[in-house]
Amino acid sequence: MKLVVALILAIESSCDETAVAIVRGLRGHPTEVLASVVASQIPLHREYGGVVPELASRNHSLHLRGLVEQALGDAGVGMHEIDAFAATNGPGLASSLLIGSTAAKGMACAMKRPFLAINHLEGHLLSPFIHQTEVPPHLALVVSGGHTLLLDVQGAGRYQKVGGTRDDAAGEAYDKVGKMLGLPYPGGPEIERVAKGGNPKAYDFPRSMIHDPHLDFSFSGLKTAVLYTLQKVQGEVPLGDLAASFQAAVIDILVHKTLRAAKQVGHDRIALSGGVSLNRALRAAFEVACEAAGAELVVASPVFCTDNAAMIAFAALLRHLEGESSPLAGDIHPNLPLV
Ligand code: KG4
Ligand code: ZN
Repeated sequence: MKLVVALILAIESSCDETAVAIVRGLRGHPTEVLASVVASQIPLHREYGGVVPELASRNHSLHLRGLVEQALGDAGVGMHEIDAFAATNGPGLASSLLIGSTAAKGMACAMKRPFLAINHLEGHLLSPFIHQTEVPPHLALVVSGGHTLLLDVQGAGRYQKVGGTRDDAAGEAYDKVGKMLGLPYPGGPEIERVAKGGNPKAYDFPRSMIHDPHLDFSFSGLKTAVLYTLQKVQGEVPLGDLAASFQAAVIDILVHKTLRAAKQVGHDRIALSGGVSLNRALRAAFEVACEAAGAELVVASPVFCTDNAAMIAFAALLRHLEGESSPLAGDIHPNLPLV
């Protein structure tokens, strides 16, 4: 087989992180991440307790050019050496997606190179395998602020959804409960921090649908249960106990359903990705459960868990090596499904 090395530059701007990455790779070899820069807008949106779409898109356009130059500098490559340009085309905020996608198309057009439109969820899904030689069959849990998905993965590009959330995503539940508890946005890392000093058994919050035969999730009942408990508290709010008990319920549900899905589909390898997979208590619970079930656990590196462009560049690289590209006339899709 001909060995073709490809250099990909990708942009991720689906929500409130502006990110640019450059990767180099070839079939059957671990991919090199030559540059991965992220300009987080968290401090900007914190004041509003969540992401303000117009502020997000305006800031993407302000920072993107500088980030592209920084990534090229970090990677030590010139724009003319890039073989293909990629950007996230959905799901995400329309105005934010448009900025990154239009910039990547512009560069592809100017440099007469192919453009690749990448699904943000495929980026997360593949992120645990960036440094591996292939994407092996596995059961994937993608758990982020916008999504909680279980997928049967047979290899790169071969995915089947086996479960998902029927209401809030796990990260969304973290963020909403964080807000209720008066913690800064985003709630996920704050709840993890506060939960360290609390008792996870202090409150017996519901594990909705945990024993139902299907593989879907529901987190809105849990969120409401925390709210009702909070309303009954008299005196000082037991922040640590509430955060730890909420987190214990989320982890129980995610671990239980994911292991059941792996068994049901017939996978002995489980991969975790997305912002919530940064959570150390979640990782530890999965390690214990996978060891007991004799399953291999693959978790994305912490730098590739929350939104980044390296995962988009990696997904684009795999498609580029298969000879795929996307039309410049293609649109962005705020509700783009993965499968
Ligand atoms: O993957 P991501 O950066 O963006 C989406 O695609 O949504 O995930 C962001 C989500 C937020 O909901 C955030 O609260 C959550 O990931 N998150 C965490 C942690 N760090 C980020 N949730 C729990 N524990 C954490 N340490
Ligand atoms: Zn994401």
